[in-house]
Amino acid sequence: MKKLKKMKKRITNTRYIFPVLLLFAYIFIPAQGIAQEKSKENKIPKSLQNILMDESGEMYIPTSDGTKLKVVPENPRYQLSKLRGNPSGTNAGIFFDFQDEEFSGTLYYGLINYNDSKHPFPVYRSSPVTISSGRALVHFNSLKGAFDMTGWEESGMGTLGYRVIDSEGMMVYDGIVSFISKGRFKAVNTVLTGPFINLVQSDKVTISFETSEKSICEIETNGKTYKDKEAVFQHEIEITDLQPATVYPYKLKYGEFQQSYSFKTSPVPGAREKFIFSYSSDSRGGSGGGERNLFGANVYIIKKIMAVSAQNDVAFAQFTGDLISGYSTSADEMKLQYHNWKSVVGPFGAHFQVVLGMGNHESYDIVFNDDDNKYSVVLDNFPYETNSSESLFAEQVVNPHNGPDSEDGSKYDPDGSTKDFPSYDENVFYYTYDNVGVINLNSDYWYTPYKEMVPAVGGNVHGYVMDNQLAWFKNTLKTLEKDENIDHIFVTIHTPFFPNGGHVHDDMWYNGDNSFRPVIAGNKVAKGIIERRDELLDIIINKSKKTKAILTGDEHNYARTLIGPQTLIYPRRYTADKILLNRQIWQINNGAAGAPYYAQEETPWSNYVAGFTTQNALVIFDIDGASIRMRVLNPDTLEKVDELILN
Ligand SMILES: [Fe+2]
Repeated sequence: MKKLKKMKKRITNTRYIFPVLLLFAYIFIPAQGIAQEKSKENKIPKSLQNILMDESGEMYIPTSDGTKLKVVPENPRYQLSKLRGNPSGTNAGIFFDFQDEEFSGTLYYGLINYNDSKHPFPVYRSSPVTISSGRALVHFNSLKGAFDMTGWEESGMGTLGYRVIDSEGMMVYDGIVSFISKGRFKAVNTVLTGPFINLVQSDKVTISFETSEKSICEIETNGKTYKDKEAVFQHEIEITDLQPATVYPYKLKYGEFQQSYSFKTSPVPGAREKFIFSYSSDSRGGSGGGERNLFGANVYIIKKIMAVSAQNDVAFAQFTGDLISGYSTSADEMKLQYHNWKSVVGPFGAHFQVVLGMGNHESYDIVFNDDDNKYSVVLDNFPYETNSSESLFAEQVVNPHNGPDSEDGSKYDPDGSTKDFPSYDENVFYYTYDNVGVINLNSDYWYTPYKEMVPAVGGNVHGYVMDNQLAWFKNTLKTLEKDENIDHIFVTIHTPFFPNGGHVHDDMWYNGDNSFRPVIAGNKVAKGIIERRDELLDIIINKSKKTKAILTGDEHNYARTLIGPQTLIYPRRYTADKILLNRQIWQINNGAAGAPYYAQEETPWSNYVAGFTTQNALVIFDIDGASIRMRVLNPDTLEKVDELILN
């Protein structure tokens, strides 16, 4: 929790600072043989280049002036493991120890009544307590009598919500602790986040949640009890033998405690019943203070997006990337930000499925730097299998496991016998609901932040869908196209094909410069960013009839762009092959879930952009058999922002 100036700056800006962007010009091209040989010992992925190891086994990147860039040690501003405050019982109440003598701030607290609301949140008491020398005590005298709104005095048990605010007034953590108060107070096993409804089908769902203690918990529903198979912290309980399109009340039981919610199964595939789903993205920490940045997440807007989704009785909410500010070298800090996001979504996600895609801000990095902070290189962290942006994301979400494996085995794979790329598991996938299919792509896979570094060290550029993912997408779309139960397909991906404001310099356009592309083991791949965009468009528009819209984000605005034969999609001078589009579809961009805004910019396709707004927005699709109506609401003011018939 100690604050080092450098790191703090990075977090505030949510981007690393690169003093020398022309870094690639300074990097040596070492003998590949040496790099390859060493990489075996230190598990440096062979897909990268110019990372070496010194005699002591430390990784470094050499530069032409003889500087060695070394791995920057983790320096998180805040960590999940500390901010929970290790709650424990005393005779008076609950004591918190944040394990940092220098930490001071304020702790708001209030009881959570799981029985008087569909979406239970803590109701805060008027007087917070002070955190000094990293410690605080919540005295339960202040929660007695007229303030005992859960009946804990009589039942001898209850649950407390608490919010940690640092000395600068920044909200940094929302926590929960369940307690027993028979005699001395005792902190007991607590549901920290969730339950979340996942993987909804017509005959089964999965319910996931996290507990403070390794434990076996139960879900009681449909006259049966479903249990964890073993004691775990991260629970995923599959509920089977269900009827289609049916509402099931359920109880989550943990120790002496229980919470009650309900979920609904999907109709049988192709039933063509009416249903609604919502779409949004980009909720990372925003500007304006207060809940607009609960350390890494704009929980003010996310809560409203979830509330409006609940009000519309959505079957599911799709959310495609940039949940959190991310860009951290500390897994503990990344987990804190994911926790804060989940803490506000949980009370809604207990009733309907919230499906999460990956964006660039889910970036968990390794940084190489020199002592003078002259050079800096940022890469997706590794080993990829256990310590990458992708593996961390997969730990945090419960998505289908039906995506491609990885970019291993592509024609650029430097070694067919080793794993040299992150996994696509749970960050590329598809799901269906009744007559709708939704395909989640990942354009921030194996992401090297800052395009200037890619030629020097390797990795993927922001916005690029790599070969194996493209092949999987083509096949998946073909399968859904042939599926008689599916009428409509939505393709969702974090980066727009046609950026309109804030990301014209990258995404799938790079100001019209096709030269940007991934570099694998020192080799530039054959297709540039615009050529790859065209291959995706060819699959989505020319080879598919059912794809009705591309749902994108990254740009923090709402806008719809008509993509068809008439849309200008190339720069003035463009030498690569061009494609002809044979029908038109909409790109629906909604990155307006709370991240700082971008204004509109001029592009070749500007005449085909409608509805551009920097208001916060939630897109709602009303599906009724063959028809799709789209409504866009400002989730803060409830103003109607836009509407459209999509077919
Ligand atoms: Fe983004």
